[in-house]
Amino acid sequence: MENRTELLANEAEMMVSKTETFLQDVLKGLNAEPKYLESKYFYDSIGDGLFQQIMRSPEYYPTNCELEIFSLQTDEITKVFTKDSQAFDLVELGAGDALKSAYLLQNLVKKKSDFTYYPIDISENVIAGLHKNLPDRIKGLKIHGLNGEYFNMLQKVNNISRRKKIVLFLGSNIGNMHPEDALRFCGKLRDHLSSGDLLLIGFDLKKDPQTILNAYNDKQGYTRDFNLNLLNRINKELGGNFNTDNFKHYPTYDPETGACKSYLVSTRDQKVRIEAADVEIGFEKNECIHTEISQKYDKEEIDRLAGVTGFTIVDSFYDSRKWFLDAVWLVG
Ligand code: AVJ
Repeated sequence: MENRTELLANEAEMMVSKTETFLQDVLKGLNAEPKYLESKYFYDSIGDGLFQQIMRSPEYYPTNCELEIFSLQTDEITKVFTKDSQAFDLVELGAGDALKSAYLLQNLVKKKSDFTYYPIDISENVIAGLHKNLPDRIKGLKIHGLNGEYFNMLQKVNNISRRKKIVLFLGSNIGNMHPEDALRFCGKLRDHLSSGDLLLIGFDLKKDPQTILNAYNDKQGYTRDFNLNLLNRINKELGGNFNTDNFKHYPTYDPETGACKSYLVSTRDQKVRIEAADVEIGFEKNECIHTEISQKYDKEEIDRLAGVTGFTIVDSFYDSRKWFLDAVWLVG
């Protein structure tokens, strides 16, 4: 009990530094030319809820595609993971509600595989929720959740156990990185793994450009609200005075590069105050803030990415429309 005040002080300190980092990132992005904001800041509690709505909208197909893969090809994926009958650690980066991976976990337990599930997430709530719910739903599951940054937590798992690692990185979260960053990320992931380890990684594939564009412009406006929520978050946490009526959600898709990008467009000349830094940021009419990239890939690009980052291709799981690919790579 004597540590209670100390704990609270630490928590308060962490809050301060989180807000400070957010402020610095926002100032850097809004003072840059062209302006940008980092997409990781979409996900406060309002943003989490809006993303749930996006996933339920008829236009947003990626979640359903990957859910189809995990629900219909569970046995095939299980076989690839258990071929050598070795005990392993199943590490999921950004586990969220583990809706997709639960199919796999269920099947692995049923087949009596010797494994421990290590969900990693930056949200403490997510990890607490998984610990509360998953063992009830999947009897006999060994789970060890870790709350923190991907690579720090992956290192932690390596320190806890020397068993073979199988890493899941689902949901085309890799798409939120520019291709050069995705390459760096996969290389770094490779460096945190050992020979014989596996990576299952989800990619959204190039397809009819209109289908892609519609997925980032749903009719009900959840994606618009999700994008504008960045400005609301700045208002709330950094004392901003953005008027979201003066910004327009503008998604684009370039079928040549596969880059799907979202912007917020200023609809008038305006100045916005950010109280936390005591500054004013000017926007010209039609000036854009780049807020997100959701990169789309084709099979050749994915294979090349595996090759140059030190992986070999083991298997490819597609949904029935071939809109999404869960690739399985081996550390050679
Ligand atoms: C969670 C990164 C996979 O890029 O498709 C959905 C986020 N943004 N609609 C994506 C998102 C707008 C999503 N990811």
